[in-house]
Amino acid sequence: MNRDEKIILEARTLYKDYGIKDNIEHVIKGISLKIHEGDFISILGPSGSGKSTLLYLLSTLEKVTKGEIYYKGNSYSSINESNKSSIRNEEFGFVFQNFNLINDLTVEDNILLPITLGTRKQKIDREKLNDILKFVDIYDKREKNPTELSGGQKQRVAIARALITEPKVLFADEPIGSLDSKNGEMVMEIFRNINKKNGTTIIQVTHDEDTVKYGNRVITVKDGAIYDKETKIDERID
Ligand SMILES: Nc1ncnc2c1ncn2[C@@H]1O[C@H](COP(=O)(O)OP(=O)(O)OP(=O)(O)O)[C@@H](O)[C@H]1O
Ligand SMILES: [Mg+2]
Repeated sequence: MNRDEKIILEARTLYKDYGIKDNIEHVIKGISLKIHEGDFISILGPSGSGKSTLLYLLSTLEKVTKGEIYYKGNSYSSINESNKSSIRNEEFGFVFQNFNLINDLTVEDNILLPITLGTRKQKIDREKLNDILKFVDIYDKREKNPTELSGGQKQRVAIARALITEPKVLFADEPIGSLDSKNGEMVMEIFRNINKKNGTTIIQVTHDEDTVKYGNRVITVKDGAIYDKETKIDERID
């Protein structure tokens, strides 16, 4: 098979500047990378090196200053805002450090948000919801509000919400950054299972070098560029 056929995301010489006029910060300085379907990538690097910015660019949450990103062969610059928003809602899942849950809604209703707010009219699949609740081990908390949960439990709700639409790509920014090591391992095990079982492509930013073993590739970002050659954990993808 042609290796290129399996590329799901590709970045070509990305640049991202923040600020204006005399106060411009060059945050991403010419990053290129290819991400294959089924990759589980960990982005490592010092604080302020541009890891989150890179993730936001790849996931359409931020716009590039220069360069191009291709999702399934189509450049973001050629996709209009409404189609980009459909891609975000239907094909991408997001998990961030600060959970972003809605406190007035129950755990279940938080998880169902991408469906209830989605553009595609989907029926709520009770069985799927229950499977996901069990998968992330918060089934017994399903009627509670996020304020009644621990940090680890909140993060598992956020993961369940990201999974309910069965995303092709899961973007995670420091998903275990605010968790203790036990909860962190649990989240990483969930990620590994999603990656292996569903073939979901995962791109996570992490500070924790121990977590890279859950994935198959490590990309180290230093000062807005990819540092040295990237490390491959295994050769799963030929
Ligand atoms: N919205 C923004 N406006 C202006 N500058 C920004 C913005 N977002 C990020 N930056 C700057 O870009 C640089 C890289 O930030 P980024 O959040 O990508 O770093 P990071 O590698 O994720 O760091 P950390 O590990 O601390 O999360 C920082 O110097 C930051 O100040
Ligand atoms: Mg960051």
